[in-house]
Amino acid sequence: MSTFRVLLTPGDGIGPEVLAEATKVLARIERRFRHEFVYEEETIGGAALDRYGVALRPETVAKAKASQAVLFGAVGGPKWDDPRAARRPEDAILGMRKQLGLFANLRPVRIYPEMIAQSTLKPEVLEGVDMVVIRELTGGLYFGQPKKRWESARGRQSVDTLRYSEKEVARVMHVGFQLARQRRKKLTSVDKANVLRTGQMWREIAVEVGKQYPDVELEHILVDACAMYLIRRPASFDVIVTENMFGDILTDEAAMLAGSMGMMPSASLGRRTKNGLGIGLYEPIHGSAPDIAGQGKANPLAMILSTAMMLRLSLGLEAEAAAIESAVDGVIGEGYRTPDIAAAGDNVVNTTKMGDLVAERV
Ligand code: IPM
Ligand code: MG
Repeated sequence: MSTFRVLLTPGDGIGPEVLAEATKVLARIERRFRHEFVYEEETIGGAALDRYGVALRPETVAKAKASQAVLFGAVGGPKWDDPRAARRPEDAILGMRKQLGLFANLRPVRIYPEMIAQSTLKPEVLEGVDMVVIRELTGGLYFGQPKKRWESARGRQSVDTLRYSEKEVARVMHVGFQLARQRRKKLTSVDKANVLRTGQMWREIAVEVGKQYPDVELEHILVDACAMYLIRRPASFDVIVTENMFGDILTDEAAMLAGSMGMMPSASLGRRTKNGLGIGLYEPIHGSAPDIAGQGKANPLAMILSTAMMLRLSLGLEAEAAAIESAVDGVIGEGYRTPDIAAAGDNVVNTTKMGDLVAERV
């Protein structure tokens, strides 16, 4: 029997609800495949602000580092939304990413054929959509210094900085090319090279790194055009690699291809260790959804699918990951839906029922 150490950080809003369904599914994996998951749980985000005065404690980061993976729910909510607040729930996710060195954020987008009707796009546009957006996660506009607000004689001023080093761009490009190699061998590098210096350097480095992967086709698209092509010809994308902020925006757009944010998992990865896979953080991209928290309406599938990514990418358990993914396929195929993805004639279920249905099929 193998034992795996996993840190749970449920966070705010629907985070705890969807995470409970993910561990329910993992309990089935334990029994069927004879593994043991040893959990620690930490309070983060707004809940931690209330309890400790900070969104992310150093103790929590230390526990994450002592684990093989982190299952992260969501952070944020109206209670902590004061734009002037010095400390915000979001510090928790940003701090985790930075302090764990998780520079590559993988956000797969695939369409369930049974849900094509759910999308606002035409079925013929969605056919064959299967891409992974890799968002650079520890640099760029989110973290560049200076980053501040101040008062001057001419009124309020503020600055954020878009800055990248060669090393930061190259390492995320390598992740992209390696992934493209295992897929349809096409990489789209997204930048704003017509205006930004960082974009020019980004493109230059993409070309240089690409020379090491001659079997992968490399294309460059400006970020504004990419926003357009994502809804005009989404099936043409295989792997996309882009800057932190661009990736944040484009992945919400890409989630709409799948019909709901409630279906989109993500994995955040850092440097691979010599003999291991390296720690990863796994979270749904949907956020804390305070408007539906505590009502049993949340879709746990993004969290459950993030758990499958954890099994595959941090724990090396491919068959176990595939078992979860095919259980989700099964549940969708049988017509079960949470409210966010339901259409007329569907069998609408709540959060815990959806978790049960997936768990039963593992
Ligand atoms: C995401 C979220 C976060 C981000 C927020 C919650 C800080 O939107 O993971 O996409 O901007 O990265
Ligand atoms: Mg986002």
